[in-house]
Amino acid sequence: MIILAIETSCDETSVAILENKQVLSNVVISQVLEQKEFKGVVPGLAAKLHLYNIEEVFRRALAQAKITPEAIDYVAYTEKPGLVICLQIGKAIAETFALYLKKPLVPVNHLEGHLYATLIGRSEEWEFPALALIISGGHTQLSLLKDHFDWEVIGNTLDDTVGELLDKVAICLGYGYPGGPVIEKLAQSGKDTYKLTVPKNDKSLDFSFSGLKSEIKRLVEKEKKELREADLACSLQWTVLRALKKKLSNSLRKFKVKTLILGGGVTANNFLREQLTLFAKDWEEKIKIFFPLKIYSTDNAAMIGFRALYKLLG
Ligand code: KG4
Ligand code: ZN
Repeated sequence: MIILAIETSCDETSVAILENKQVLSNVVISQVLEQKEFKGVVPGLAAKLHLYNIEEVFRRALAQAKITPEAIDYVAYTEKPGLVICLQIGKAIAETFALYLKKPLVPVNHLEGHLYATLIGRSEEWEFPALALIISGGHTQLSLLKDHFDWEVIGNTLDDTVGELLDKVAICLGYGYPGGPVIEKLAQSGKDTYKLTVPKNDKSLDFSFSGLKSEIKRLVEKEKKELREADLACSLQWTVLRALKKKLSNSLRKFKVKTLILGGGVTANNFLREQLTLFAKDWEEKIKIFFPLKIYSTDNAAMIGFRALYKLLG
């Protein structure tokens, strides 16, 4: 089965081609450079750039996969959530392509795509029930998966997401978008010396990160030239880790699961990957942990194709 997948939900234009579980190509053109000066993603600019880049992404994906359009069996695309005008572009292109090829369309949920990214290039499968945590720019969400088709959201952020927190702190320190990689790099030479408050350190399953953002902004204004950026970045990563661990522990105590799935752009962070792997290893009960390979952490079409594949396999 050959699937062509399209992802245009935010600021990455991506097309992937999969032959069953093998990724034949996964071409991504990111808008990071164009969006950098705006300190975030401007939807109108994102849509314009998707239209500009999509043809090249398509051509490269087909060339790398060494297949002709006629060989494609299904056309998958990101249906939601995301920036509406960007999603519409992906949908219109998928529909046109599917109509021309006379092949069926497979709409895919972007968040499910982030979770299925963890199965790419890995022979092991999830064991159900599973607990999933998405940490991306758009979402910080906990869900419970009973099987491949039954999942329930059990926790959400009440305000900012983890990705937004990292992006906004980086901007506050004078860096550009995206902030996650900047914070990770700064933190490498820092120590956890700033005593930041672990947000929403309670029994609930919800998150909140805007208070931590304000705390850091106040600290930056107060310390001025005395600010130790690397220590602040390191303290921020530790505080985020503590907040995530607290909610994971709450969820794991409430629901007995066999698998823990971590998805979304923030899982590209090595510190969080290592620490959360240790957390799962030390957990009271045996639990398997799944992260995406780093190339599949941030937005890409291969993860959309992978989710489509599991939908089609039933
Ligand atoms: O999943 P994603 O590509 O887009 C959404 O669906 O939102 O996630 C983007 C987020 C951004 O907030 C970015 O700063 C963060 O992922 N990110 C990272 C790293 N790379 C990207 N956060 C921490 N460490 C990284 N290395
Ligand atoms: Zn995403």
